[in-house]
Amino acid sequence: MELKIKELTKDFKDFRAVDHVSCSMEQGVYGLLGVNGAGKTTLMRMICTLLRPTEGSVTWNGKDIFKMDASYRKVLGYLPQDFGFYPDFTVQDYMMYISSIKGIRPMTAKKRTEKLLEQVGLRKMKKRKMRNLSGGMQRRVGIAQAMLNDPQILILDEPTAGLDPNERIRFRNLISELAEDRLVLLSTHIVSDVEFIANDILLMKDGKFFMNGTAEEIISSMDQAVWSCTVPRKEADRYLSKYLVSNVKTVPGGAELRILAKRSPAEGAVMEEATLEDAFLLYFGEKAGEEHDGEV
Ligand SMILES: Nc1ncnc2c1ncn2[C@@H]1O[C@H](COP(=O)(O)OP(=O)(O)OP(=O)(O)O)[C@@H](O)[C@H]1O
Ligand SMILES: [Mg+2]
Repeated sequence: MELKIKELTKDFKDFRAVDHVSCSMEQGVYGLLGVNGAGKTTLMRMICTLLRPTEGSVTWNGKDIFKMDASYRKVLGYLPQDFGFYPDFTVQDYMMYISSIKGIRPMTAKKRTEKLLEQVGLRKMKKRKMRNLSGGMQRRVGIAQAMLNDPQILILDEPTAGLDPNERIRFRNLISELAEDRLVLLSTHIVSDVEFIANDILLMKDGKFFMNGTAEEIISSMDQAVWSCTVPRKEADRYLSKYLVSNVKTVPGGAELRILAKRSPAEGAVMEEATLEDAFLLYFGEKAGEEHDGEV
């Protein structure tokens, strides 16, 4: 299985949202990481044939996906970022409804619905109306509906939006399980969502792939070290304006800072092991995480 993207580009009038992006994906989890407006959704919509590229190509096992048409949709599952559902449908009715759109026979659809709801931990909720589920549960139904046709390619756009910490852990396990025999591409701007489960992380910035590799590779590409030091409270601002600071914690003696710098930023600073979060700060110039996710 190979999904190959070559020089993929999308212009909206005079604005280039995706700019000559190339990569090749096989079985496993791929994490598309980037801040708001990076071009993640636009790229995914092209991979799902919902948007025509301005330039470039996408092939599945060597065939152009736009020419494959229905036979491509058979192998594709998609959870859109703005996943819409019918609020008065029960979970089960919704799954049956999506199955009918996908042309899955009712008997098969029923069996798959049972299995998928079990897998996403919603078996007991099948008679519940969609609008009465929590945000996290709705996302899980979203993942389940994308899996109805047992796709080889699963595209999940911000699948963790609105999930609480427990649900995030559960979600990671679910994705790892689903990726055992398929290709999963998921987008997020939360580093911890992909740090441990993605085999390959694609950093996207201003429509381009800025870097890609395993978490270790991305971390080791950093040309700055990570330091921790405690400074008097009144000096903290000076450090914040001078350095990239990935964390500030108030402690009895002042402020404990986690700083990215080539050389020791303060006397007594201790070198720490860098994380993907630090690399994200370095490459994107802002801190990734919950505070940028309006829904968390
Ligand atoms: N239909 C459109 N017409 C014009 N501009 C668009 C359209 N769709 C997206 N854009 C622009 O393209 C850029 C990339 O948008 P996109 O939704 O792909 O980003 P994203 O990485 O998914 O962001 P987010 O994390 O907020 O979901 C943005 O600047 C957006 O305003
Ligand atoms: Mg998006």
